[in-house]
This record gives sequence, C-alpha cells and structure tokens, in this order.
Amino acid sequence: MAEFDALMKETASLVETALDEFLPRRPGPLGRVVDAMRHGALDGGKRLRPFLLIAAADMFGCPRERSVRAGCAVEMIHCYSLIHDDLPAMDDSDLRRGRPSVHKAYDDATAILAGDALLTLAFEILAERETHPNPEVRCALALELARASGKAGMVGGQMIDIYAEQKEFDLAGIEELQRLKTGALIRFSAIGGGIVGEASEEEVMCLAAFAEDLGLAFQIVDDLLDAFGDAESLGKPVGQDADMDKATFVKLLGAEGARDKAKDLVASSKAHLDRFGDRAAPLKGAADFVFRRKS
Ligand code: IPE
Ligand code: IPE
Ligand code: MG
Ligand code: MG
Ligand code: MG
Repeated sequence: MAEFDALMKETASLVETALDEFLPRRPGPLGRVVDAMRHGALDGGKRLRPFLLIAAADMFGCPRERSVRAGCAVEMIHCYSLIHDDLPAMDDSDLRRGRPSVHKAYDDATAILAGDALLTLAFEILAERETHPNPEVRCALALELARASGKAGMVGGQMIDIYAEQKEFDLAGIEELQRLKTGALIRFSAIGGGIVGEASEEEVMCLAAFAEDLGLAFQIVDDLLDAFGDAESLGKPVGQDADMDKATFVKLLGAEGARDKAKDLVASSKAHLDRFGDRAAPLKGAADFVFRRKS
C-alpha cells in the first residue's frame, strides 16, 4: 500500500506540473478564463484518471512524457465536467475540492467558458505531435476520448442523471446511467494508457473490462460517500443525492447492498488484469484504493 501511495503521489505531481504548464496565466480579459480554468484544474483532486492512464501505459514501457500528456487530457475533461456539474442549473454545488466551485469564485458565464476551454484544450493536447509520434495513435486517443466524453459517454450520463430526478430507475437503468456518467471516462483512462503505450488489441480489451467494473464501483462509492461521508474530508457537499432524489445504488440497494456490490466489482475488475501478472500491481492497487477511499 505504501508503494501504491508513493506512485499515486508521484504521478499526481507530474500531472499537476504539466497542467500548470498547459495553463500559463494571461493578462486582460483572456486572463480571467485562464484563471478560472486553473481554479478548476489545479490544487486538488485525487488525479485518479491520469493515474490509471499512466499506470496502464507504464505496463507497456511507454515514455512518461507521452502518458502524462494523455493523462492531462482526460483530467481536463474530468475537471470541465465537474465545473459544469456544480453550476446552479445542474447540481448547484458551492464547494469543490475544499474550495468554492468555479462559478462561486468567478460567475456562471466564466465557469461555462472555463469548462468549454478545458474540453477543447484536452483535444488540442492529444492532437499535438509530442503526445505520440504516430498520428494514428494520436487519432485513436482523440477518437476514444471524444466517445467517452460526449453523448454516448459522460454528457449522455449527465443528461440521464438529471432526467432520473423525476423518474423511478431499476438496477439496470442505474447501471446504464453510471456507466456513462462516470464509467466512460474511467474506461478511457485505462484504455488510453494501452493505446498510447501501443498495447495489442486484446490487451486493450482487458484494460477496458477492468475499467468497466472499476468505473461502476467508483460511482457506487461516490454515492455512499455522498450519503455517509463528511463534507470536510470530501471537500464537497454531502446529502445532495437524497435531497435531489438522484438515482443511485444506495437508494435502490441500501448502504450494505451498495457496499457489497462495490466490493464484488472491485474484485472482478482486478481479475481482468491477471494476464499481466505483477506488472498490473499499480492498477490493482488503484482498484483497492477506489473501495477504501474516504474522499
Ligand atoms: C467526482 O470525481 C465526480 C465523479 C465522477 C463521481 P472524483 O472523486 O475523481 O473527483 P476529484 O477529481 O478527486 O476531485
Ligand atoms: C458527476 O457526478 C459526475 C460528472 C461530473 C460527470 P456527481 O454529481 O455525483 O459528482 P459529485 O458528487 O458532484 O462530485
Ligand atoms: Mg451530478
Ligand atoms: Mg455533483
Ligand atoms: Mg456524487
């Protein structure tokens, strides 16, 4: 566990340095949107998605310069999704990562633009030659990230999440919602590591299977933390899901049922990595982390 914690710290610090460099401050009105982007993307967050991407890429001997760039791209999409998720028109959350949400620190219009600019910057980074010398690899990364982020991924999931506030959902419906809302970007993170590391198709498929189970477990734990965690350590408000009558596993299965399901999913996620042997230890460590995390 100490080894895992050290690796997570190391990759988070590489990602934060790179994010800082991707977002140089600017004077004037343009500077305002950059400052808001920096507020939403720097100083905080577990950096789990870039960790998954970098750890997966490490298994195939990928140079860190490449995997850190791809990791920054998925983290930017994630941060943009959080900025928009917190807006009054969505979850109306004032606190994120222990600080005021971007629309609170700035205003709604600036938060919308900062999110949009992080979204587009992610694809700019993937398209640049430094991400990988082979344009086919860059194109595959951009294609998979676009699919994971858009209507058949995170955005689609967010739409169902909002719609679900007025509708009863069964287990399959909630699974579909969470697979898109949270699962798609986590799935991209793992397969993106395989793609940038030039893994074989079968290897990428194993990474996908791992991340599909892990993504679901991740959102179940997020829902448990919303119901039973504390705002101080989470750095975001609690109790919002129940207040807004969100469709969650906790609502449907109760706390024990949801915890058992997350535990089973973490175990099955790890089993998909067995073919990689010891090389998969960091990714398996990430699966355990997802279950035990308190923030
Ligand atoms: C929170 O994600 C939003 C969900 C997709 C559930 P994280 O828990 O990874 O948030 P940060 O990046 O660590 O703040
Ligand atoms: C939002 O899920 C996930 C995305 C931003 C795509 P939540 O609304 O549950 O995330 P938190 O709990 O606010 O972090
Ligand atoms: Mg939400
Ligand atoms: Mg939210
Ligand atoms: Mg939540």
